[in-house]
Amino acid sequence: MGHFDAIVLGAGAAGLMCAIEAGKRGRSVLVLDHAKKPAEKIRISGGGRCNFTNVNTRREAFLSTNPRFCVSALKGYTQHDFIALVRRYSIAFHEKALGQLFCDGSAREIIAMLLDECAAAGVRIQLSTSIGAVEKSAAGFRIATDKGALTCGSLVVATGGKSIPKMGATGLAYDLARQFGLNVLPTRAGLVPLMVQGGLLEMTSDLSGVSVDARVSIGKTRFEEALLFTHRGLSGPSILQISSYWREGQEVQIDLAPDRDVFAELKAARGEGGRQELHTALSAILPRRLAERVAADSGFGKAAEASTAKSAPLRLADLSDKKLKAVADAVNAWRVLPNGTEGYRTAEVTLGGVDTAGLSSKTMQANDVPGLYFIGECVDVTGHLGGYNFQWAWSSGAAAGRSL
Ligand code: FDA
Repeated sequence: MGHFDAIVLGAGAAGLMCAIEAGKRGRSVLVLDHAKKPAEKIRISGGGRCNFTNVNTRREAFLSTNPRFCVSALKGYTQHDFIALVRRYSIAFHEKALGQLFCDGSAREIIAMLLDECAAAGVRIQLSTSIGAVEKSAAGFRIATDKGALTCGSLVVATGGKSIPKMGATGLAYDLARQFGLNVLPTRAGLVPLMVQGGLLEMTSDLSGVSVDARVSIGKTRFEEALLFTHRGLSGPSILQISSYWREGQEVQIDLAPDRDVFAELKAARGEGGRQELHTALSAILPRRLAERVAADSGFGKAAEASTAKSAPLRLADLSDKKLKAVADAVNAWRVLPNGTEGYRTAEVTLGGVDTAGLSSKTMQANDVPGLYFIGECVDVTGHLGGYNFQWAWSSGAAAGRSL
């Protein structure tokens, strides 16, 4: 039976970072994972280019029942620490909008870097290993696996959340947390497309593939990024962001032309002779397909003409202020009632999870179970879209690795 100072369950972003930091401090570390390859989520992240951190990392970009919990770890291992590591490996990267850093080449470079760091720190990684019963022993922990039992002084749980079960996500972290008496908060899919039904679904399907910059809000929470129409409903960065705040039964407010007063613009266009058709005027503000659809759905545009085939084409001049306002509201103040999210199948993250109340914010160690740590996505800390979730994985992983 092999014994290690620390065993890390999960060879993802958080687990590898933790193992590196512990290994560098001379600890004997074994990382176990049931997958055939390590860090599969890094490989597929950021469209294959891995949005590995965000230069604007700050506490406000994270959701948690305890919003201050993440501060200590984020300060202990910052975005600049990770950027320095990436630079040391000469991995080319660029900043996209909103401080998001992506590899120029491939996310595989980040995985190779982490594996190199593991090797340099003497970390052993054992893949394709099923984890069985985990028990507390006098010397630490005993872990049964399909390849034999192992023991360790410290046990780090880094098996992630429930998102993308097809890629091997399981609820192991939550089961272990409960087994050792920690509270687990209800989990939900986050950073996930929203679904709609009925006439709205018909509309989004028709517009599938159309993207528009939008301001999306629920109450005071708002995001201004691209919105994408899909065959199931709405997606794109602004929708993924708001999905982490959305609850069943809530309406989402959407401004499809932020910072443009569509009513004023339509009125001005009507003032210039009013010969222009509604959908043409809207095309100056929105992508053409969307403009046509908004005009048609308002009942005053192209489709309305089609249904009364013989009537004269509707010009802006034919539309009263009241009608123009109704059209403008469909653009600047569109209200959507989603009927659900796409769920864990496509969610980038899992909200909720291991309650931070039972963990030390400095080390990620369980307050009442010495030697037991929870890091990464399984903890009730979830970042906005934009590299924040990997930064949480690096920071929480480093916090544990430097402590055990
Ligand atoms: P992670 O899920 O990475 O690793 C957990 C590991 O545990 C896996 O290797 C898994 O096989 C293993 N495991 C699970 N259950 C097990 C069991 N029962 N037994 C043994 N092993 C088990 N974030 C970001 O900041 N920038 C981005 O660009 C993206 N992009 C992105 C795209 C997509 C499609 C997804 C799904 C997610 C993202 N994310 C992201 C989110 C990011 O991938 C996520 O937050 C981190 O991978 C979480 O790291 P962890 O190490 O906590 O879990």
